[in-house]
Amino acid sequence: MCELMSRFLASEGFEVAYEYDGISGLARRKTDDFDLAVVDIMMPRKNGMDLLRDIVADAVFEAEPMGKTVVYSELTVCFLMADKLWISGALDNVIRNGIRHTQTDSSVDINLLVQEYNVCVNIRDHGEGVEEEKLEHLFDPFFRASEAREHDGSGYGLGLAIVRRAIEMHGGNIVAHNHPDGGLQVDIRLPLTE
Ligand SMILES: Nc1ncnc2c1ncn2[C@@H]1O[C@H](COP(=O)(O)OP(=O)(O)O)[C@@H](O)[C@H]1O
Ligand SMILES: [Mg+2]
Repeated sequence: MCELMSRFLASEGFEVAYEYDGISGLARRKTDDFDLAVVDIMMPRKNGMDLLRDIVADAVFEAEPMGKTVVYSELTVCFLMADKLWISGALDNVIRNGIRHTQTDSSVDINLLVQEYNVCVNIRDHGEGVEEEKLEHLFDPFFRASEAREHDGSGYGLGLAIVRRAIEMHGGNIVAHNHPDGGLQVDIRLPLTE
């Protein structure tokens, strides 16, 4: 862990190559050439690449034994200039956090909103949320909202730091807030191609 930490901080990026929490792809991509391609991320009624739908299918499979599920509302076709691995890794990470934190017998709810020049992906769970004063640190490296609860060796608090970097590298941004009816909601905005 110490070596991991120093490497992470020294690089100020994600040159580290390691496996955990589904972000190994993200971590590795930093050393590769940044691979931009027009990626069709959501085509619910068509064949072809469908980033979000594929991620959700995997997430549903993982959540099911825990008595949890992942649902999304109607998806709109939209195109963005994106590195597929980075962006799917980022979405996957936020969704998996939601699965971990949402209550048994509840869901992680995904909404997709296409605005003029942006797509907004809102990922909300039905868990305990995050204390208001801690929200601003959620995307800091090594931040854990509750050390006591999360001493299960399941992560280092790096997931969301890497997610933020991935989203910002694509000209987008990411914020988190507590949903008025409970649970954490993470909003990801990404610019669409013209
Ligand atoms: N959906 C969520 N609900 C409540 N807390 C969350 C949620 N997602 C993330 N967190 C908190 O933010 C911290 C950082 O998340 P992350 O960077 O993914 O790290 P990790 O999953 O490795 O602990 C987590 O340890 C947890 O305390
Ligand atoms: Mg995580």
